[in-house]
Amino acid sequence: MAEQLGDLTRTHTCGVLRTTDVDADVVLLGWVHRVRDLGGVLFIDVRDRGGVTQVVFDKDDEALMNKAKRLRSEYVVGVTGRVRRRSPETVNAKLPTGEVEVVVRQLVVLNEAKTPPFPIADDSPVSEDVRLKYRYLDLRRPRLQGNIILRHKLTTAIRKYFDANGFLEIETPILTKSTPEGARDYLVPSRVHEGEFFALPQSPQIFKQILMIAGMDRYVQICKCFRDEDLRADRQPEFTQVDVEMSFARPETIFGIIEPLMVDIFAVVGRTIETPFPRMAYSEAMATYGSDKPDLRCGMPIQDLREVFRESSFEVFRKIVAEGGTVRGFVVPSAGGYSRSAVDAVVGQEKAQGRHLLWARRAEDGTITSSFPRAVGEETVRRLLDASDTQNGQLLFVVAGEPDTASKALGQLRLMLAKKDGLLDGETFAFTWVVDFPLLEWDADEKRYVSMHHPFTSPLDDDVAKLAAEPGAARAKAYDLVLNGSEIGGGSIRIHDADTQRRIFSLLNISDEEAKLRFGFFLEALEYGTPPHGGIALGLDRIAAILGNESSIREVIAFPKTAAAVDLMSDAPSAVDQKQLRELHLQIRKS
Ligand code: AMO
Repeated sequence: MAEQLGDLTRTHTCGVLRTTDVDADVVLLGWVHRVRDLGGVLFIDVRDRGGVTQVVFDKDDEALMNKAKRLRSEYVVGVTGRVRRRSPETVNAKLPTGEVEVVVRQLVVLNEAKTPPFPIADDSPVSEDVRLKYRYLDLRRPRLQGNIILRHKLTTAIRKYFDANGFLEIETPILTKSTPEGARDYLVPSRVHEGEFFALPQSPQIFKQILMIAGMDRYVQICKCFRDEDLRADRQPEFTQVDVEMSFARPETIFGIIEPLMVDIFAVVGRTIETPFPRMAYSEAMATYGSDKPDLRCGMPIQDLREVFRESSFEVFRKIVAEGGTVRGFVVPSAGGYSRSAVDAVVGQEKAQGRHLLWARRAEDGTITSSFPRAVGEETVRRLLDASDTQNGQLLFVVAGEPDTASKALGQLRLMLAKKDGLLDGETFAFTWVVDFPLLEWDADEKRYVSMHHPFTSPLDDDVAKLAAEPGAARAKAYDLVLNGSEIGGGSIRIHDADTQRRIFSLLNISDEEAKLRFGFFLEALEYGTPPHGGIALGLDRIAAILGNESSIREVIAFPKTAAAVDLMSDAPSAVDQKQLRELHLQIRKS
């Protein structure tokens, strides 16, 4: 039977008592974490958000002892008692409160609890579905509690930083019009306006630009964004951005604001990082790492090895090079330990993906072996190893073919091997700005250009002239912030004149009519004295996951959705009743 709280008032949380508190009378309120019954004495660990404290029941008080014996894990209790020093042999060095215990005088059982479906007291593995269904229990466990506290500290540091730098936090609407970030919208039907819908924002992009037109100068918002897209470990249908916009900004202005912010963010976990961050052109990232979000922790750059084959007697490669193809490869420094069968396994794995991977290696004693056909000749293989600076005990993987495809294949292989060989150290933080993205991408399905970031991104001044003749070659004033192979932010300098904005819409095959319908209000606003402006949005969930050393952002979100975009705890999304549908003028058509 649950007892009342009455006037029981907490004096200390369960994480703070030390030997300096010996003899103090205290009141602790919390959950029964562990019960240890040693016959004559009963120990209970009481837990709250602050930590765990051991409390003791002596057998002398029989009534109290009998009451305590009924306690089970996760019961909610209040204890009143006196702090005493633990005897040396019972000190628990792992607990901050491990040198003391509380001798209980009074016990109040505030609530009972069903037996939890998994233990709270340790982090033993439990299936994620069960954890998500009972998220309130999962959140009691130390790992998630630590992550939620970390997240709070991050947002606090972020708000403090932006306030000190003259930014205003301004809320933008959740019920709004579709924003063009490239994913599908979540729609909200209007009851009042039959057949009309709000869209949940994929980002506050248009609103933050309008705030610049409105003269707000520096805007920040820690905000939810909604995207109906295919999910992965680092994607959620609703996620949190640290959204930033500044008037009169060049890319350098944005970097100059974000880099010191990252210093403050990393200081939250006691880490020092170096600024400025390196910058890398998109074209270099793609060629050298086969990715627009290169992981720079593991070296192994992809090298252009065409020269070796331009004049070689190896017909296949010579032809590929002559016809504009490429020969590329990277050196695996840790490959001394790779057995022949391990190398064959990698080749086989690539073959299964339709890719033809070749290799050449120098053994510790300098002996050269390779998978190149005999016709290539030993001399060419030696030149290849020299050109790529493959040392004794190292191995070179090579792919030939179409440049983009070859680099992407090598980029994936590089990461897979780096992971396997333990080269992606969780303690190293390798930042880079990827800059000069292409403005447009060719969408082969739709047979038209689409924006690589979004249609408000400004072209590079030097590339404006390319927009007419070869729009695909124009680069953008766009940048991504990449940390350890994860895109943790992206932004750009925006188009601030209505003419260029119309031109870009027309390149994107968005008719004047459609542009007016979708963004008319914005195009009009652009004509009322728009300052040059730009910004960025950081992915808060991704940053928190990296700092919390978690491989999925679900671990740093209190109530995440599954990879199938459902909330297992509340069972959302779910059907609604007919009356609600009628009011919203909706009818469900079974597919
Ligand atoms: P972008 O679409 O690049 O830019 O998003 C910015 C950052 O948000 C994070 N992110 C996500 N995190 C979790 N789940 C998702 N589904 C998800 N999608 C994106 C990433 C990404 O770098 N309006 C522009 C910003 C701008 O131009 O200022 C935008 O939203 O870390």
